[in-house]
Amino acid sequence: MLNVKIKDIKFNNPLLTASGTFGYGDEVKSLTDLSKLGGIVTKSVTLEPREGNPPPRIYETTSGMLNSIGLANVGINTYCEQKLPFLNSLDTKIIINIAGSSLDEYVKVLEKLEESNGVHVGYEINISCPNVKKGGMQFGVDCSMTEQLTKRLREKTDKLLIMKLSPNVTSIQEIAKASENGGADAVSAINTLVGAGIDINTRKPVLNTTFGGLSGPAIKPIAIANILKISKVVSIPIIGIGGISNYKDVIEFILAGATMIQLGTINFSQPHRNEEILIQLKNWLNKNNISQIMDLKGAVECYS
Ligand SMILES: Cc1cc2nc3c(=O)[nH]c(=O)nc-3n(C[C@H](O)[C@H](O)[C@H](O)COP(=O)(O)O)c2cc1C
Repeated sequence: MLNVKIKDIKFNNPLLTASGTFGYGDEVKSLTDLSKLGGIVTKSVTLEPREGNPPPRIYETTSGMLNSIGLANVGINTYCEQKLPFLNSLDTKIIINIAGSSLDEYVKVLEKLEESNGVHVGYEINISCPNVKKGGMQFGVDCSMTEQLTKRLREKTDKLLIMKLSPNVTSIQEIAKASENGGADAVSAINTLVGAGIDINTRKPVLNTTFGGLSGPAIKPIAIANILKISKVVSIPIIGIGGISNYKDVIEFILAGATMIQLGTINFSQPHRNEEILIQLKNWLNKNNISQIMDLKGAVECYS
C-alpha cells in the first residue's frame, strides 16, 4: 500500500529523512526504529573534512529554524572508514548526499563512494546549499552547470542520481529540466530558503554568518508551490521536502506530484515522528478506500 519505486529501486514507504537533520543514522538509532523508514539521506559529505561555520549557527524562528552549519562533515575518507560500516548494517535504504565546490570535487567524492563497499542505493547531489562561501549554490542557480554536473556524475554511476534543488532561484523549473536533461533519475526539492534575523538587544545578527537557511513548517507552502511547478516540466520523479511534520503534509506533497518525501527539521524535536506518520497514512488510505498511496500522485485538481 505504501510501497514506492524510483527507477528500479523499491522503497517500503515514501518517507526519507532529509540530509543534515538525521546525521549518519547512528546518532538517532536509539530514538527511532530506523528499519521503519523508507530510507535515510545522510549529511552532505565533501572531499575534505569541514568544520563548518562558527557559532551561533542555528536559531529557532516562528514555525521553523535558521541554520548556517556550512556543511560541517568528516570528509569522504573518514566517511568511508567510519560511517559506511554502520550504514551498511541498516535494514533500510541509504542515499548518500554529496556536496562540493567544483565539478571535479563532486566527481571525486562520487568515485570514492563507487569504489567503496557501501550498499547505498543512490546519491543525492546538493547543488543548493546557501550556507557556504564557495560551491553548492553556484551550481544550483545555473542551468548549464547543473546539466554538466549531472552528466558527469551520470557517467560514473548506475545508482540512483538525485539532484537537490534550491528555491533561491528565479526558475526552479529550468534547473529541474537541466537535471533531467543531464540524466538524473529524480530531483529533490526544496533545500532551505535564504533568511536572517537580528537580536534587538545586541543588535547583532542571530547567525554568525548573518544569512542562513530557513527550514521547517514556515516553508511548506513554498515547497508545495515548487513541487507543483516542477511537476509540470519534468517526467522524472520528484522527492518533496520542506516543513513536513505530519501525515497530511505527506499526502499534500504527493497530491502536488511528489513520489517520495523527506522529513527534515521535525527530526530535531521528534525523530520518531516517521513511525506515527506511517500508521496515520495507512489509516487514512484505508478510510478513503485508496489501495496504493501512488494513486494520489499528482492527483491535485487545480482550478484552471
Ligand atoms: C541543521 C540543518 C542542516 C542541513 N544540512 C544539509 C546538508 O548538509 N545537505 C543538504 O543537502 N541539506 C541540508 N539541510 C536541508 C534539509 O535537508 C532540507 O532540505 C531543509 O531543511 C527543508 O526541509 P525541512 O523544512 O523539513 O527541514 C539542512 C537543514 C538543516 C535544518
